[in-house]
Amino acid sequence: MTASNRARVIPSAEESRTPNPEPRTPSLGVEIAGIQFKNPVLAAPGPMGFGREVQSVIDLRAFGGFVTKSVTVEPRAGNPYPQIVQTPAGWLNSLGLPNSGLGAFMTKDLPFLRTLDIPVVVSVAGESIDEFVTLVEWVSQEPGVAAVEINVACPNVRAGLTFGVAPSLINELISTLRPRSPRPLFVKLTPNVADIAAVARAAEDGGADALALINTILGLSIDVDRRRPKLGGTTGGLSGPAVRPVAVRMVWEVARACSIPVIGMGGISSAEDALEFFIAGAHAIAVGSAVIDNPNVATQLCNGLTQYLERNNMSSISEVVGTLEITV
Ligand SMILES: Cc1cc2nc3c(=O)[nH]c(=O)nc-3n(C[C@H](O)[C@H](O)[C@H](O)COP(=O)(O)O)c2cc1C
Repeated sequence: MTASNRARVIPSAEESRTPNPEPRTPSLGVEIAGIQFKNPVLAAPGPMGFGREVQSVIDLRAFGGFVTKSVTVEPRAGNPYPQIVQTPAGWLNSLGLPNSGLGAFMTKDLPFLRTLDIPVVVSVAGESIDEFVTLVEWVSQEPGVAAVEINVACPNVRAGLTFGVAPSLINELISTLRPRSPRPLFVKLTPNVADIAAVARAAEDGGADALALINTILGLSIDVDRRRPKLGGTTGGLSGPAVRPVAVRMVWEVARACSIPVIGMGGISSAEDALEFFIAGAHAIAVGSAVIDNPNVATQLCNGLTQYLERNNMSSISEVVGTLEITV
């Protein structure tokens, strides 16, 4: 969408007759793959786990939707410690997808998530097509699951990136999963590729309903005195402010290459950060690392987005989507 073809707000006949009608609060609601999100600020998979762990410090209902940490078929202990180190502008983590496995997710985590009253997207991670099939077939049948997110983007586990870096493999994976899920399938993309648009198109052609990007960027941090990696898992995934320009560029490339909605993330901690993603073409955004320092980030982002819409006489966040103007 360009600035010139944004939806216009036409006053109703009733409004035209009323002198000085009260200004309406702009709408932050968005629809993605038929799912209504009350606002476009989603909880990114990972830092908020399965919600239960952080519910006493973070108001999860302030988010428009909650995307879970990735669930695997079997329980995973995760990588050796240390699993996370701070860098000058973000976090490097090598958690290695620690989780209690599919069975425990269904019996312990999902019942809690159903009580949130916001759409819940369950992220799943497999090491083979068969594992992804098992995860999708179980999770997508469950009440209270709005969508399933296919994580082909984790840099911290064996085979974590296998599907996410090869267009032909991701196409095969998503076209195998699509008929097996009654719910929308989101696909989480890795930035650790040369041509993200090619991977995104392959996922869309396979039947993805939405794309979420970016996952973390592969990095290495070294303790120079010990001459050893700072992380127990040797390499890790970089998140936070340092990755934002990379993420915005990739969202822009993917939004231009695909026609399904894009959920943008990577280093968002303010409304201005989020707006970069909307202008680049994202229909919604997600926040991960920023909650570590600011548990109220969702509310603050929504307030900031509303103020931006009011300042610019816009009635809906969707008017901002894809409005980047390039003159060269
Ligand atoms: C501690 C941590 C754990 C994460 N775990 C997952 C995960 O389980 N599944 C997933 O798809 N992404 C995971 N991510 C990636 C985030 O969802 C997000 O894509 C990335 O961190 C960029 O966003 P941010 O800069 O707002 O954190 C994790 C990120 C962090 C920092």
